[in-house]
Amino acid sequence: MCGIIGILGSDAVAPAILAGLRRLEYRGYDSAGIATVTNGCLDRRRAAGKLAILERTLDAAPLSGLSGIGHTRWATHGSPTEENAHPHATDRLALVHNGIIENFSELRKELLAKGYVFASETDSEVCAQLITAYLQEENLSPQDAFAKALTRLRGAFAIAVLFAGEDDLILCARRGSPLALGRGEDEIFLGSDAYALAPFTNRVTYLQDGDWAVLTRSKFTIYDAKNQSVKRNETISLAMNTIVEKEGYRHFMAKEIHEQPDVIAHTLSRYLNPESKTVCLPETGLDFTTFDRLTISACGSAYYAGLIAKYWFERWAKIPVEIDVASELRYRDVPYTDNCGALFISQSGETADTLAALREARVHHQKIAALVNVAESSIAREADAVFTIDAGPEIGVASTKAFTCQLAALACIAIAAGRARGNLKAEEEGRLVSALLEIPRRIAEALKSSDAIKEIANEIAKATDVLYIGRGMNFPLALEGALKLKEISYIHAEGYAAGELKHGPIALIDKSLPVVVLAPHDRHFEKTVSNMHEVMARDGKALLISDKKGLAAAGDVWASIEMPDTDPDLSPIVYAAAVQLLAYFTATRKGTDVDQPRNLAKSVTVE
Ligand code: F6R
Repeated sequence: MCGIIGILGSDAVAPAILAGLRRLEYRGYDSAGIATVTNGCLDRRRAAGKLAILERTLDAAPLSGLSGIGHTRWATHGSPTEENAHPHATDRLALVHNGIIENFSELRKELLAKGYVFASETDSEVCAQLITAYLQEENLSPQDAFAKALTRLRGAFAIAVLFAGEDDLILCARRGSPLALGRGEDEIFLGSDAYALAPFTNRVTYLQDGDWAVLTRSKFTIYDAKNQSVKRNETISLAMNTIVEKEGYRHFMAKEIHEQPDVIAHTLSRYLNPESKTVCLPETGLDFTTFDRLTISACGSAYYAGLIAKYWFERWAKIPVEIDVASELRYRDVPYTDNCGALFISQSGETADTLAALREARVHHQKIAALVNVAESSIAREADAVFTIDAGPEIGVASTKAFTCQLAALACIAIAAGRARGNLKAEEEGRLVSALLEIPRRIAEALKSSDAIKEIANEIAKATDVLYIGRGMNFPLALEGALKLKEISYIHAEGYAAGELKHGPIALIDKSLPVVVLAPHDRHFEKTVSNMHEVMARDGKALLISDKKGLAAAGDVWASIEMPDTDPDLSPIVYAAAVQLLAYFTATRKGTDVDQPRNLAKSVTVE
């Protein structure tokens, strides 16, 4: 993962690099560093911990220099210490790296045998030492040494290098991990995404996989994997220059939870016609009538959104759906056919596992659709058909509004598929569209339960383990609820299909174990409530999340949260608000870092 930035500027660059890194902190935040070159001399500052600590280091010991590179890290090889923080330096160069060098131990052995001394435990440092070896031993130019080193590296990476003695040069390369170049007035920039470059320029050129580039203040030259000079299109980026604020909320996550009625309404307005009560998808060339199967791939919360959508595609469009965690798709030897669509869901559009699964589908000539929150992302750029959500920037690491916007968009896509395939009558489409249009209001009502949920969360915060159960499309929501709780409160939590409890997990039930039961008063209600009674009969603490009718029918429980009445087909979108708030208040009660939980990053760009 990690975020990288580089600037060949006309002023001291360290403050601008720091500003760029602030916009990349979502990619990792366990250490950070900057290197600059001044009159040919390299200098660097690094710090373990969040960017604020590097900022203090720079205040105490500022860095001069008109050229520089910076890095914010998500540790893969080596713990998050200052020694392992980037940039990694030799006396010839400083280097930042995003990704993983898979053959690093073989290269490290080779370099150690030649007497090169390593100062860190990282895979990244081998790149720095390898380029240095070619500079020293073969007396190659920086460009030739860099190009030669690239041929030795395996894995996924984006790399940028600054050289001693070169005040007007940065070399960079992209293989797997994203990298964008930006053009200013007598200034050149590079960054992991256009958002990092937004304070400096909107003229952005994305490197393609295998590309590398030579940057000077006046221009950049891009080479492809065969070292041929190539032209890549410059685009005008729409990435926002402004930094997103908390607007009075204590955490971004709270703000993002409360934004859901608005952003879902925006997302729906992209796909629904409220007058005709029909779904109107943008023209993407995707023809659902040609599919005899749909494969969905995604990671984490986006995967759970896909799991819920599977119920919709199968019910409304009668398309058989196969769904995989993106990191596993390749290991299954899927028997692809020509009539198979492949849908990839990703908030960031940069998740390495999802991108790798997309490329695998491309090799098998699938028609590729993507659902993303970032229209300029790698996944969007590589898909045949792109659907976007209007969640706006999601800063909290735990996904909330992007998840519910994904659901809203997926419901629309599944309805459109149902109509196109002749499986959904106009009347049924109208009913579903009306129910979808009601969703923002229903979520706003659900959010009114905040205070009640906060009280329950005070009790949940005492638990060491929590189970979530649900049936039908509320089963994937149970998985999502458990994920939310564990990632921000660090309480162990698991989601189960309610009917599966008796096949093993019920052995865990005792009086210390809260079980969150997701059970709207729908056709599954009675069966799910029976499972809840099995929990209560064993002294488990049942927390029932249901509507008025459900709560009245279920009788006494340890605790309950009342949700508004919702169309049974769409209840997971509304009930998501309850599990999000429960996780949020549990985490704030425990005093964890809600927006930047330990060990996580917002954009996961390693496989
Ligand atoms: C959980 C969460 C992650 C992401 C996952 C995929 O709250 O945010 O599980 O959903 O890393 O990320 P995207 O959607 O960016 O591909």
